[in-house]
Amino acid sequence: MDAQFAPLLLLTSFHLLLRISAHDFLLPGSSLSVEDSSDILHSPNGAFTCGFKNISHNAFVFSIWFTNTAEKTVVWSANQLHPVHSWGSEVLLDMDGRMVVKDYNGQLVWENDVYSSSNAEQAQLLDTGNFIVKGQGDIILWQSFDSPTDTLLPNQNITSAVKLVSANRLLVHGTYSFHFDDEHLLALFQDLKDTSFIYWPIPDKNAWSKKGNSFKATTIGVLDSWGYFLGSDNLHFNATDWGLGVMRRLTLDHDGNLRLYSLSKPNGRWSVTWMAYLQTCFVRGLCGMNGICVYTPGPACACAPGHDIIDQSDRSKGCMPKFNLSCDGKEMEFVKLPSTDFIGYDQSQISLVSFHTCKKICLKDCSCKGFLYRDGSCYPKPFLGGGVSSPQLHGSFYLKLPKTLQVLGSSIPRSQPSGPRYVPNCNVNADSLDKPKSSQSGSPYSYFYGFLSAIFCVEVIFVALGCWFMLRRESRQLTGVWPAEVGYEMITNHFRRYTYKELQRATGKFKDMIGKGASGLVYKGVLKDNRAVAVKRLADINQGEEEFQHELSVIARIYHMNLVRVWGFCSDGPHRILVLEYVENGSLDKNLFSSKGSHMLLQWNERFKIALGVAKGLAYLHHECLEWVIHCDLKPENILLDEKMEPKITDFGLAKLLNRGGSNKSVSRIHGTRGYIAPEWVSSAQITAKVDVYSFGVVLLELLKGARVSDWASDADEEVEMVLRRVIKMLAESLMLEGGEQLWIDGFIDSRLDSQFDNVQARTMIKLAVSCIEEDSRKRPTMENAVQMLLSVDEAVS
Ligand SMILES: *[C@@H]1O[C@H](CO)[C@@H](O)[C@H](O)[C@H]1NC(C)=O
Ligand SMILES: *[C@@H]1O[C@H](CO)[C@@H](O)[C@H](O)[C@H]1NC(C)=O
Ligand SMILES: *[C@@H]1O[C@H](CO)[C@@H](O)[C@H](O)[C@H]1NC(C)=O
Ligand SMILES: *[C@@H]1O[C@H](CO)[C@@H](O)[C@H](O)[C@H]1NC(C)=O
Repeated sequence: MDAQFAPLLLLTSFHLLLRISAHDFLLPGSSLSVEDSSDILHSPNGAFTCGFKNISHNAFVFSIWFTNTAEKTVVWSANQLHPVHSWGSEVLLDMDGRMVVKDYNGQLVWENDVYSSSNAEQAQLLDTGNFIVKGQGDIILWQSFDSPTDTLLPNQNITSAVKLVSANRLLVHGTYSFHFDDEHLLALFQDLKDTSFIYWPIPDKNAWSKKGNSFKATTIGVLDSWGYFLGSDNLHFNATDWGLGVMRRLTLDHDGNLRLYSLSKPNGRWSVTWMAYLQTCFVRGLCGMNGICVYTPGPACACAPGHDIIDQSDRSKGCMPKFNLSCDGKEMEFVKLPSTDFIGYDQSQISLVSFHTCKKICLKDCSCKGFLYRDGSCYPKPFLGGGVSSPQLHGSFYLKLPKTLQVLGSSIPRSQPSGPRYVPNCNVNADSLDKPKSSQSGSPYSYFYGFLSAIFCVEVIFVALGCWFMLRRESRQLTGVWPAEVGYEMITNHFRRYTYKELQRATGKFKDMIGKGASGLVYKGVLKDNRAVAVKRLADINQGEEEFQHELSVIARIYHMNLVRVWGFCSDGPHRILVLEYVENGSLDKNLFSSKGSHMLLQWNERFKIALGVAKGLAYLHHECLEWVIHCDLKPENILLDEKMEPKITDFGLAKLLNRGGSNKSVSRIHGTRGYIAPEWVSSAQITAKVDVYSFGVVLLELLKGARVSDWASDADEEVEMVLRRVIKMLAESLMLEGGEQLWIDGFIDSRLDSQFDNVQARTMIKLAVSCIEEDSRKRPTMENAVQMLLSVDEAVS
């Protein structure tokens, strides 16, 4: 019996083997066809897939993509400039290792240029996402890693022969690229017709380092499995979620920004964990000539007053003037564009001249299109490229226009956090650009809800490239300006609107209250996808509305490991609710001050880690984010601890988009917590990011001492501000005692720690706290300084 069946069994298993292997590798002489959607290859671990991918109904590109993402994310493609037809097209592997993509009519659209003298063994997709053609003896005849498109994967080398090129929306080559320059330095380039310009790292800032590097001949850069990129020119950066086991990609997006993305496994979505430009508006040439990039609050392109958009489908083509510049100065006048500059297009810098002289210089010069006047210096510009409007830009730009051209204030592009609501209408004819929008002075929230709706469009319609046009039509109706970058959408992609019912269900009718914030009550909940969330109901509706607006517009674009994520919100009838990341271990005050045995005592290294994390989170808000965010209510209640005791700052209820250069009277002074608020908060002096530095100093002292400042009073009458001043004075004096007796430190630190602490770190923290609590806000360090100081004594680093 057995003998009879054995050959049959062998035959079937052989067949089985063939069938399985057909999906693991491609043998010489075989092909993958476009019609059969199962004609794809998987990497052994299943993370990557390669095959034909449709970019429209009947156009296909041979590509490699991530298998488990919500939307197909292509990491490499062969023929993106020449898509093939939906039938009859194929990719073929020849005996000699040559691989080709053929269109339905046999036309060759791509080949790998391999002609090996020996036979090829197979083509296969590796676990790294590298597609290789293997020859005899395991030699690699060709690999996709050597010819990336717009994405670099971990462990994929970027060498002098390799170039990332941004993809444009219509899948033609973009104008941005990332590669080594002729001095062996990695840089981002904008490639125009016959020239290319380096726009990152900012060229003049690097002039000195260039010299030192030019003799170095090795040119290689690689993103390691931990999320750290290092180039031979010492260009380096680190993912915010640094660590193993995360799927990442480094992509040069079509907006010219280089971004590092991490995949969130549960929902298959990407989040940005590093980007070259924190402010995409500063990417060279984003809005083209005569265009101005504004934040609405997402980056968007607008035209300079008196100019019309050239190509609605491609904002980088810029705008053209609807007038002829006259050489006769008498016919021209200047229109002021506050906090605006055309970066990189200075003709000259004329120092120490009056505004009047500057104006005259520009009027006399036919080629002068306008000038920037800042701090007594005059910068005439012959071209209006690189236009940006941002509150952090000092000085104003004066645009030269014919007197006959009427320009109304509403047509002056401005970023949202300052000035009037700017609602330009680029899609209709020239005149309406200059007409005030009827809703202009109406609802102060109009731009805001426009922005939210735009996010919904992203959520709902942004499924594939084809839908991009719909998205644009939508947002045009809403605000008249179009999103200019893609990462912004990516970041806000997590952001979702929830119905009140959904949240009722998630929280079991708001049963489990876990906190009481300044602006409302917080409940624990579990979403349908089993994600634990904190659901924050904003209490007072009138006030809540305003706070709601702040929290959303600020938070939706912030991503940092030391800041609490916002997953979404609900605005249903009278309800205003935020859906926040649930942070395991509750707030710092409960962990630090609790005398009950239920909480573990925070150990020294945890306290140090908390100090460093909070500093990093604040530094991100102040310096890296969009530079407009101050927290204004930092205290232990607003510092949450995750399962690894890593701190996450929450409650941006008071944070206000801050006009950096100018006045900021609009910062609300209602809240703030006694003991943590800086003196200038109470007086009417200017509020700057330094108020957070002050609060941080107080939190540092509390971390050291393990008790609330308000409990330090020696007698009941002593005000908390007095206590602080007394303690700071004492500490400052003790710090002056060089070397020798350090017993005072031991005396100051939480006695529950039993002297188990690092003396150097403790001393540094005290020193930092003392400088943070300076009365004079100008003498306080920045949060960046604070991070540096703490890092210098971080054992994990040294
Ligand atoms: C690709 O094909 C699928 C299935 O036929 C279709 O649903 C999808 O819209 C196509 N994608 C594009 C970008 O047209
Ligand atoms: C990347 O470069 C390193 C060092 O030159 C080399 O060992 C490695 O094989 C390269 N990786 C790939 C995928 O080519
Ligand atoms: C990257 O960041 C992590 C966490 O901040 C840090 O531990 C690690 O040392 C950094 N890597 C490098 C190479 O700087
Ligand atoms: C500008 O000049 C050109 C040619 O000299 C003319 O055709 C055009 O109509 C002028 N445009 C305006 C707005 O005057």
